[in-house]
Amino acid sequence: MSQQSATRQELPALEATLSDQLTAFKKSTLKLDLTRGKPGAAQLDLSNALDGLLGGDYHAGAVDLRNYGGLDGITEAKALFAPLLGVSPEEILIGGNASLTLMYQSVLSALHFGVQGAGSAWRDECTVKFLCPAPGYDRHFTICQQLGIEMINVPFTADGPDMDRIEELVASDASIKGIWCVPRFSNPTGHVYSDATVQRFARLAPKAGPNFRIFWDNAYAVHALTDDAPKLLPILDACREQGTEDSVLIFGSTSKITFASAGLGYMGASQQNLKHFKAALAASTIGPDKINQQRHVLFLRDQATIEQHMHQHAEILAPKFRLVLEQLDKDLGDDGYGSWSRPQGGYFVSFDTLPGLATQVVAMADDAGVKLTAAGATFPYGKDPADSNIRLAPSYPTMDELQQAMQVFTTCVKLATVRQRLAAKELVSSELI
Ligand SMILES: Cc1ncc(COP(=O)(O)O)c(C=O)c1O
Repeated sequence: MSQQSATRQELPALEATLSDQLTAFKKSTLKLDLTRGKPGAAQLDLSNALDGLLGGDYHAGAVDLRNYGGLDGITEAKALFAPLLGVSPEEILIGGNASLTLMYQSVLSALHFGVQGAGSAWRDECTVKFLCPAPGYDRHFTICQQLGIEMINVPFTADGPDMDRIEELVASDASIKGIWCVPRFSNPTGHVYSDATVQRFARLAPKAGPNFRIFWDNAYAVHALTDDAPKLLPILDACREQGTEDSVLIFGSTSKITFASAGLGYMGASQQNLKHFKAALAASTIGPDKINQQRHVLFLRDQATIEQHMHQHAEILAPKFRLVLEQLDKDLGDDGYGSWSRPQGGYFVSFDTLPGLATQVVAMADDAGVKLTAAGATFPYGKDPADSNIRLAPSYPTMDELQQAMQVFTTCVKLATVRQRLAAKELVSSELI
């Protein structure tokens, strides 16, 4: 029965049917998890050849990989990963196993030591604020929260974050020192920033001031699900054309190319920005794990090999995304239960319930054995003003598990929606009395 066309008299029966379905799920004691965007085991297997690749040779040219040194990574890794960020090998630093660490360290170092060295520390200037396109990546928001940076929500348009709003905000408030961006296959919405949006970001610095930085987290740079997925304009080139190359810090990693916990994080930036970042970094490390860098160089080899490897990831991931979308279309269709993204890459499907229902849907699903990302997690401070966004992460479960989890999810969405309508009807009737 369609919920939209259900009459007031029919709604209780619909509610009862959905309640029974949910009770049946509860009885089957499911234990399913759609919370985090982790690669599945079959995806991790694609990189098993990393083991043993060195064959006892611990040298890259004249560099002894076993020893200290090489703060910004080995030359061969810089050459391999620079094209992924759209920068030159002189404009990249290869770090440890996570880009998140580099993002955290960059924000911390800008706050305490400044993006342009002595005298430019954000904390000496003002209470620092960041713009946060939302829904977004929860761990970006955690960095801000932990470091005492105030966050301001920015909504999305079809082209990426609302640039009119961003330009207006940075021009009117000098304490806004940064913005988080996931420009290709945004977590969780799947947006790919349009060329016009990238160009507007490149022109932002004069409006925002000299110590403002765009944190361009290109985590899903090569993570397309389809061959015709939209491309992203390289931002450092766009900035160079405007003379604003110091305004952006670019991040990426192989967490979702090779191993999520034993990959490589990297950071692209102007040589000026890298110089200041390295000065701060040098106090906390003598250098990264160069042995893992060399293993990655030998395994991923060149751009064609990376492309081929990512095709293999897509072959595993695409059916999972298809399943999620087919289930949403079949169960919820266009019956007013909410809306959802149709990503062409990345790791997430973003679902919006009707306003006020996300918390309830997540709790109901949890009760039935399906863990979903906490409602609100995709917004700064964990507060979704509309209580409607839910991030679905299809990569980790098997196809069978995913199918079951999605059946539970759509049942919860339907039940919460019907109950909301019933509650609204009761309110109206009681007000009439
Ligand atoms: C947008 C985004 N950035 C960064 C990360 C984490 O990257 P890393 O493993 O390199 O720290 C994730 C992981 O989900 C992500 O979605």
